[in-house]
Amino acid sequence: MNPTLNIAVRAARSAGKVLLRYYERVDQIQVQSKSRNDFVSEVDRAAETAIVQELRAKFPHHGILAEEGGALGGGDFQWIVDPLDGTTNYLHGFPQFSISIALRHRGQLECGVVYDPLREELFTAARGQGAHLNDRRLRVAGRPSLEGALIGTGFPFRDQRHIDTYLGMFKAMTLATAGLRRPGSAALDLAYVAAGRTDGFWELGLSPWDFAAGALLISEAGGTVSDLAGGSRYFETGNLVAGNIRVHQAMLELLRPFLSGTLGA
Ligand code: IPD
Ligand code: CA
Ligand code: CA
Repeated sequence: MNPTLNIAVRAARSAGKVLLRYYERVDQIQVQSKSRNDFVSEVDRAAETAIVQELRAKFPHHGILAEEGGALGGGDFQWIVDPLDGTTNYLHGFPQFSISIALRHRGQLECGVVYDPLREELFTAARGQGAHLNDRRLRVAGRPSLEGALIGTGFPFRDQRHIDTYLGMFKAMTLATAGLRRPGSAALDLAYVAAGRTDGFWELGLSPWDFAAGALLISEAGGTVSDLAGGSRYFETGNLVAGNIRVHQAMLELLRPFLSGTLGA
């Protein structure tokens, strides 16, 4: 395995141990509210510390952008870390959450890991070297259109400015496909597109740590990721559409009527 990716995997596995340890006594975890419907717990912090320690030890000159600690250091290399993606699920004992770690070099994603410690599913990607689930090479699903498609999404639960627009999108997507899923960990949702478990995914208002690793997984598995307008500004807008090239195109067309001045890309 690519040596940099190997370190990211080690960091993800050590955070995975933290998540599993606390998961046995989830009712005793100390939780704080960052803002409405936005929680952080001692587990998020402990998992992030484990990851940052691992990355810092090997790459002392790399920058880190981590959800709880914010931006540390600078330079051309930046690790983008979500120590627990799916905190709400986790705190309810709902078994769908992950760890997401990606490395970006001058704006280009170099490697990414999404790890589901409960199922021991390790999704990895390195630029130009494909995407894998454990040892198996991944390829996005081959579905030619939205007909019969299973599409992942995320409901807006913090920032609800676009809730009505989202509900319109949700209705249109429901009518055009075999069904939608809202599992609750965007990083895993993207990994599932890479693995062909879902045909596509869209969500509004994500943060870089939610999707950096997942976006590379999808492109290395032969899929396409864009913002709502089909462009590459999703790191700026936080709005993502993903799928194989045909499903992705069909999703963009379906979503286009909902775009506006305030939700343009
Ligand atoms: C959240 C999850 C969720 C998505 C939210 C994210 P968190 O991350 O990925 O699926 O809908 O937008 O913020 O807060 O659990 O790390
Ligand atoms: Ca997240
Ligand atoms: Ca998180």
